[in-house]
Amino acid sequence: MHELRGFAKIKGEKKEQKILSTNKWHTYFADGTNELDLQMGGSSFILGYNNPAVVNNLEAKILNTARCQSNNHNYNDDTIRAGEILCDGVWDTYTWALSGTSAVEAAISMNDEYWKAWEKPKHKIISFSFAWHGTSYLTKDMGAPFLLANHTNRCINLPHPKGDVDELETIAKIRQMDLTNVGCIIFDSATWINGLHGFSHSWWVSIRLICDEHNILMITDDVASCWGKTGSLHPYQTVGHGVQPDISAVGKSLTAGYTPLGAAVCNKMVGDVLRIPGVWNYNHTWQPSMMGIYIMLNVYDYITENNLLEKVPLIETQLTNLAAEFDIDSYRVQGCFFALDARGKTEYTGLSSTILKNNIRGCAPLTADHTYFEDLRTHLYGSLS
Ligand SMILES: Cc1ncc(COP(=O)(O)O)c(C=O)c1O
Repeated sequence: MHELRGFAKIKGEKKEQKILSTNKWHTYFADGTNELDLQMGGSSFILGYNNPAVVNNLEAKILNTARCQSNNHNYNDDTIRAGEILCDGVWDTYTWALSGTSAVEAAISMNDEYWKAWEKPKHKIISFSFAWHGTSYLTKDMGAPFLLANHTNRCINLPHPKGDVDELETIAKIRQMDLTNVGCIIFDSATWINGLHGFSHSWWVSIRLICDEHNILMITDDVASCWGKTGSLHPYQTVGHGVQPDISAVGKSLTAGYTPLGAAVCNKMVGDVLRIPGVWNYNHTWQPSMMGIYIMLNVYDYITENNLLEKVPLIETQLTNLAAEFDIDSYRVQGCFFALDARGKTEYTGLSSTILKNNIRGCAPLTADHTYFEDLRTHLYGSLS
């Protein structure tokens, strides 16, 4: 029996390690060692590991109703409440998805069904690489085409901009292109996989303008950045400077990482078309996963009861102060996300990046407290010394 483990091209080869348990922000291994999870499970576990509030009443709920399929036109009070939370008064229409990958696929499906209904052959997607949009063929083709032997021929891949000059060049390049067959432009609002270079206000405004001028849908992949990590549930409200895309894909932290759940949300313009009978076709066996729904409700209640979104600016300040302590090249902090550029290759990065050899990227949980920052400081001194 052989399990395929690892992700050779991106994460490199690592030694096999048996895990005994996870607690708060640590992983404990069978050999007696432990590691701080710098990225909190790929930015999913916003409430830390072993948080009992996340699974509150789960057994009773799932034993009461285990299945409620939206593609059978079914719903219950919990799926409706979860949908209201998801749309947060700023989105018109939504669909559940299985994971982050499935959420991005659902967002592209919204785009495709929209243009199909208008009978417009706008099959091309403008995307930026390197970015991580997921594990399916299309999502890899959008963000990491170098991983594929064959291509979908749908994506126009532009190099992922890093910084203002790159952004201006990329915008100019898009403006020079023939955009007739382009249905959407998609980008990852978090950019932390690329070292957290972020997107400027002018980028968001320019992409929005191009989309409006050329009848293109603007899609943000907010799977990594959603649900509080930038201080808002939907990142366009914070890192996007209020510039709302037409469609957004969300996932990961909806359930604080405890079970996979994703969703795509869209504005009224797109929703009005998708809600026409016969237009929408996106179907999973679990849609939604009821485990996901119950956990999502617990997570939302915990976030609001503990005012965790309001604490994000303080987390950002503490991360910034901590980063400033180190003798490194540069650093960037955005909400709970941080990226540190060491002067040389970092030897001991724990559960952090292996893509950029001198870069340590992480994501603090929304529950980060004094102990977390002390643990993080110790870990970073270990990595950077
Ligand atoms: C921006 C972004 N989009 C999509 C995905 C895919 O999510 P999942 O791994 O849940 O399929 C990820 C996962 O890392 C991500 O960071």
